[in-house]
This record gives sequence, C-alpha cells and structure tokens, in this order.
Amino acid sequence: MQQVKFDQVQLPALGMGTWHMGDQAAKRDAEIKALRYGLDHGLRVIDTAEMYGSGRSESLVGTAIQPYSRQDFFIISKFYPQNATKQRMQQSLTASLQRLGTDYLDLYLLHWRGRVPLAETVAGLEDLKQAGKIRYWGISNFDQADLLELQQINAGQNLAANEDLYNLGARGVEFDVLPWQQQRQIPFIAYSPVAQGNKRFNNNAVVQAVAAAHNLSVPQVLLAWTLRQPNLLAIPQTSNWQHMQANIAAADIILTTAELTALDREFPAPTRKQPLEII
Ligand SMILES: NC(=O)c1ccc[n+]([C@@H]2O[C@H](COP(=O)([O-])OP(=O)(O)OC[C@H]3O[C@@H](n4cnc5c(N)ncnc54)[C@H](OP(=O)(O)O)[C@@H]3O)[C@@H](O)[C@H]2O)c1
Repeated sequence: MQQVKFDQVQLPALGMGTWHMGDQAAKRDAEIKALRYGLDHGLRVIDTAEMYGSGRSESLVGTAIQPYSRQDFFIISKFYPQNATKQRMQQSLTASLQRLGTDYLDLYLLHWRGRVPLAETVAGLEDLKQAGKIRYWGISNFDQADLLELQQINAGQNLAANEDLYNLGARGVEFDVLPWQQQRQIPFIAYSPVAQGNKRFNNNAVVQAVAAAHNLSVPQVLLAWTLRQPNLLAIPQTSNWQHMQANIAAADIILTTAELTALDREFPAPTRKQPLEII
C-alpha cells in the first residue's frame, strides 16, 4: 500500500473516517468490528472530531482501540473553531483524550476557520505540542489563501497537514492547494474520498468500465482514483467490515494512464481557481 509521511512517521495512505459513527446504538458492534478489521489488516490512521456526534464518535473510537497498543495507531481529532483559543482548545483536548481513552493525540486539527486569530490558535497548538499532549497539529477546510496566511504566522510553518474535501467529483484543490502542499511535503488529507456514496458515479459508463476492468465496485474505483496522488491520506468512512476489506483492496489498485485520461474527460481537472468545496 502507498505510504504517507508525517515528518518522520510513515503511515499507510488509507485511513479510516468516523463521521456519524457512534450515533446509533444498533450499529455500534458493526462499527467497532469495521474499525478493528482495518487495524487488524494494516491500517493505522483513524480520523475523528469533537463535533462528530458531540463526542460519540470519539467514544466509539476509544472502545475500538482498547485492545491495541497505543503505537499501533495514529489518531487525528479536531476542535471546533469556537474552541480555537488557547484556553478552550486545552479543555477540548482534555475532553477528547478522555473519550478516546488515551493521553495524547497524533494530530490535532482546527476543524475549519472561525473568528479566533490564527496566531492565537497556532500558539495554543504549539503549547500542546510542547506539553506532549499532541504530536503534530494541522488545519482543515483551508483554502490556498488561508494556507499562505498561516505561513506568515510565527510557527505557522510547523503545520503538519491540511484536510480538505477531495474526490473524483470535487477536484478544485488540484488547481492550487494540492500541488502547493505536495511541493512542500505537507500531507494532504482527503475527506469524503468516495463522495459519500453519491449515486451519480454509478450511472457513468467510464466509471463502470474501469470498475469492470479491475473487478471493483464504484466506491473502490473512486478510492483508487483519490489514492493515485502522492503524499495523500484518504480517510473513507465505513461501518461495514466488508466495505473496509474492499477499501483496503482498492488501495493497492493502480489505474492505468488510459483509464485516468478517460476519467479526466468525464470529470475534468480544474483549469482555474475554484472556491473551496466544503461539506
Ligand atoms: N474535516 C472535515 O471537515 C471533514 C468533513 C467530512 C468528512 N470528514 C472525515 O472524512 C471521513 C470520510 O468522509 P465522509 O464520511 O463524508 O464520506 P465518504 O468516506 O466519502 O463516504 C462514506 C460513505 O461511503 C460508504 N462507503 C465507504 N466505503 C464503501 C465501500 N467500499 N462500498 C460501499 N460503500 C462504501 C459508507 O457506507 P457504509 O458505512 O455502508 O460502508 C458511507 O455511507 C469522515 O468520516 C470524516 O472522518 C472530515
């Protein structure tokens, strides 16, 4: 499987998203089984947030990871923009760590930009890093201009990752954000990489042909397509261990140049700046 590098830490380029997981008691066992299937089959990254189910996703992840050694996984969580002050982010982190049942996060992200000045947020994140409560920090839903602004801030260069929407139907970041990060070796985390199960791809003849050629499902094609980019971590969410298995298999699929060209014709790459897409 392709790898992604966070500083000195090398990780498989396929991680696990968890939005909406932990919300329904009836799905809990299946969700834990899916996450453990991933961990048992080589995946290491789990992406969650204080927002997801108001902490229920983090609690679910905490249960799922209990039998594993802490160094076996890499946990990403996120804080709300309104909690981006020094004091409030400490409170948020303490609560997240408690729900996750761990004493540090591997990566802590500002979920999206709000009103708190970036300089204060970065200073708070650097303090958390110094205190050993987080290993790395980053941001999410940042556009090119936000990234450039961040670079001007003291310690802003310590940014470890940016997490944005990216899939075959949402390619705007290919114009600026993605190459900018790739040039600087700042990992790009692609959220909603299988387009949230959007049915528009199911009826597309080119997507269907690529799927048939590799004996894949449509979500697998979308995932293999997203993972073709270097230094990118894709974090599809699934509550179904068989879908987790399918996603792991898809991470080893290399689409041919002819297939990529045919997909480009159907879903063109951006030729000019596009507003950042956000879910
Ligand atoms: N930073 C941010 O602002 C932000 C925003 C959105 C998402 N995220 C993160 O990114 C993660 C992924 O994004 P997402 O959840 O929006 O969308 P996604 O991963 O593109 O799609 C999730 C949907 O796809 C289905 N699915 C996944 N693998 C499948 C497979 N192999 N076959 C069939 N169906 C499959 C899942 O259903 P099943 O459970 O039935 O498999 C689920 O309904 C989130 O969970 C979250 O961790 C971050």
